[in-house]
Amino acid sequence: MKRYRRILPVIFGAGMLAAALSGCGGSDGGKQIVRIGHNQATDHPTNIALMEFEEYVESKLGDKYNIEIYPSELLGSQTDMVQLTQTGAIDFCVASNSILETFSENYTLFNLPYLFSSADAYHMAMDDPQIVDPIFESTKKAGFEAVTWIDAGTRNFYTVSTPIESPQDLKGLKIRVQQSPTNVRMMDLLGGSATPMGFGEVYTALQSKVIDGAENNEMALTSNGHGDVCKYYSYDMHQMIPDILIGNCAFMDDLSEEERSIFEEGFALINKVEREEWVKAVEAAKDKAANEQGVQFLYPDTKPFQETCASMHTEMLAQYPDLQPIYDKIQEHNAQHPSEAE
Ligand code: GCU
Repeated sequence: MKRYRRILPVIFGAGMLAAALSGCGGSDGGKQIVRIGHNQATDHPTNIALMEFEEYVESKLGDKYNIEIYPSELLGSQTDMVQLTQTGAIDFCVASNSILETFSENYTLFNLPYLFSSADAYHMAMDDPQIVDPIFESTKKAGFEAVTWIDAGTRNFYTVSTPIESPQDLKGLKIRVQQSPTNVRMMDLLGGSATPMGFGEVYTALQSKVIDGAENNEMALTSNGHGDVCKYYSYDMHQMIPDILIGNCAFMDDLSEEERSIFEEGFALINKVEREEWVKAVEAAKDKAANEQGVQFLYPDTKPFQETCASMHTEMLAQYPDLQPIYDKIQEHNAQHPSEAE
C-alpha cells in the first residue's frame, strides 16, 4: 500500500526530519512501516526495482510490514538520508558510493577513476563477495550496513557549451562533482574547478550558469533534465560508481531468521531488476537526449584522462593499505575482462 507523506526536506534539517519521522510513528494498523528513501524519479530503474522489492516482501510478510518508498529526495539529500538511516529514523536508503566515502574510508576504493577496465569487470567485481563484503560490513559500528549494490553506469563529463575532447578542455570550467574528497581530487588533477553539491541542486546551478557542467551517467540528461541545458556529453568514461542500498543495523538485527532471508531475497531482486531496467533506460535516455534535447555525444580518446588521474590509485593505496588485497582482487577481474576498446 502506498501512502507518500510529503515531507519537506528543504524546511527540515536531517535532525528535525528524524524527529518528524519518529513522530509519524513506526506502525500502521499493527504493521511495521519500513521507510526507504532515494533521490531518483519514479520512472528511474532504482525506483522500479524498489517497487518490486516492496511487492515481493509484502507478498510474503504483508501482515507484518508495510514498505513505503520515498523517491525524488522527499526525505532530503543522500547525505541527509544516510544520517536518517544511521539513526533509524528511516530503515533504508540508496546512496551513491561517493557519499559513503565520508562515512567510511573503505568506500573510497570504488570511487577511484578508471578502477574497472570494463563494464563486465565492474559487474563481476561488484558481484564478488570477497570484494564487497568487507566494505559493505565496515559501517556496522556506524549503525548501517550495505545490503546490495545498484548499477549506475559510467560517469562522463557534460557541459553547457564546451565540447570536452581532452583534459585541457576542462581548464577553467566549473564542474559539479559529488561531495567526496576523491571526486574533488580527480577534478583538480583533470584541471577543472571542482564544485561539490548535492544532486538536487545541479539543474538550477547549470541553468543559472553557477557551473559550466557536471559529470554523470546518461540518465541525468533526461531523468533530471540536465540535457535541456547541457548540449555536449563526452564519453571519457572516468568512473563506474555504484549506488548502494544501505539498511539500519538495528532494524536488520531485529528481523527473525525467516524474515531476514525474505528481505535478503528482496535485496537480490532489487539488484537483478535494476540491472535489467538500467540497460533499457540508458538506451532510451541516449535516444531522447540526442533526438529531443539536441545533445551531441562525443567519443574522445580516454587515455589522456586516465593517465592524468592514474596517480590516484597509488595515493589511495598508500593512504589505506588495508584496501590493497581488495584492490588486487579487482585487478584479477580486470585481467579477465579487459577494456572493450582494446
Ligand atoms: C547518479 C547516482 C546517484 C547520485 C547522482 C549524483 O544519478 O545514481 O546516486 O546521487 O548520480 O551525481 O549525485
